Amino acid sequence: MAKIGTDTAAAAMLLAKGELVAIPTETVYGLAANAFDPEAVTRIFQTKNRPSFNPLIVHSDTWEKLEPFLREIPPTARKLGEIFWPGPLTILLPRNEIIPDLVTAGNDRVAVRIPRHPLTLELLAQLDFPLAAPSANPFGYISPTTSAHVQEQLGDKIPYILEGGAAAVGVESTIVGYEADGSWKLYRPGGVEAEALEGVLGPLSRFEGHTNAPTASGQLKSHYAPRTKVVFGPLKVNLQKGLSPKKTGVLAFRQKRADIPAHQQIVLSASGDMGEAARNLFSALRQLDAMGLDLIVAEALPEKGLGRAINDRLERAAAE
Ligand code: TXA
Ligand code: MG
Repeated sequence: MAKIGTDTAAAAMLLAKGELVAIPTETVYGLAANAFDPEAVTRIFQTKNRPSFNPLIVHSDTWEKLEPFLREIPPTARKLGEIFWPGPLTILLPRNEIIPDLVTAGNDRVAVRIPRHPLTLELLAQLDFPLAAPSANPFGYISPTTSAHVQEQLGDKIPYILEGGAAAVGVESTIVGYEADGSWKLYRPGGVEAEALEGVLGPLSRFEGHTNAPTASGQLKSHYAPRTKVVFGPLKVNLQKGLSPKKTGVLAFRQKRADIPAHQQIVLSASGDMGEAARNLFSALRQLDAMGLDLIVAEALPEKGLGRAINDRLERAAAE
């Protein structure tokens, strides 16, 4: 089992030696390694069972530390950083050669982010290298929002988990990409509302390309998935469709349904608060997954604000 604690100096020492450390962020816990150390980065892929075509986000605490491996920083990217960093936004920018190919899976852009968690910022401030960190879950499974989630699934494979409490946002960062023609595209809806980004960038089109050779795992059709089969959409319709075998669980937005046993249902936010719903999402999916259900019917949220990120994750959880 991994040691769990708040000792950032110990975490820094392990990372400097090429070890992996799980770190808290405001979105989900990450599985971190020195981004400049290809052997350490290789261990991330092995530990998660993640295919190596799937590139990693590089985290640091200042622009100054990110600059050396960025080939170009358009003024708009600086502006995004000023407004949304530290925070749940990841920016795809042209990269140069010092960042290992393994980190970007050979892409000519690198994903960068300054996360908002105080403990992780304290850790990053002690490092003279950035951290490559995907979510700290086995590939394809639900992302971890507590240290216990990480311990459960990866605890026997890593030495240390930095304890940062439950994630404040609860869904992964929004990913936005700077394109060769100077335009911006949305790659993954997440913790920063797309509407807020559009306030800065203008109308944003979504990068469409869920294929089997994705440039972003956010692009993988089936992802963030519990082991139990999930169907996603309007609750009433899906429950009436005869999609109710013996043991159906419900993940509801605001209220439970009368026609399903109450203990097989989880409400994301009784008051209809999308922020609360996002914070509860991945824990709720894990809980439902542990109930031995035949099916989880997940309700679609209104397609706005954080609802877009939540719907995106549920849609992928439901994909075959
Ligand atoms: O909130 C988050 O973003 C969390 C925390 C730990 O920061 N991290 C996270 O990492 O969600 P991961 O690896 O689970 O998802 C990152 C996404 C992946 O879909 C990956 O393919 C995409 O970012 N990505 C990373 N580098 C990329 C690149 N150079 N080009 C395109 N997509 C990239
Ligand atoms: Mg992930």
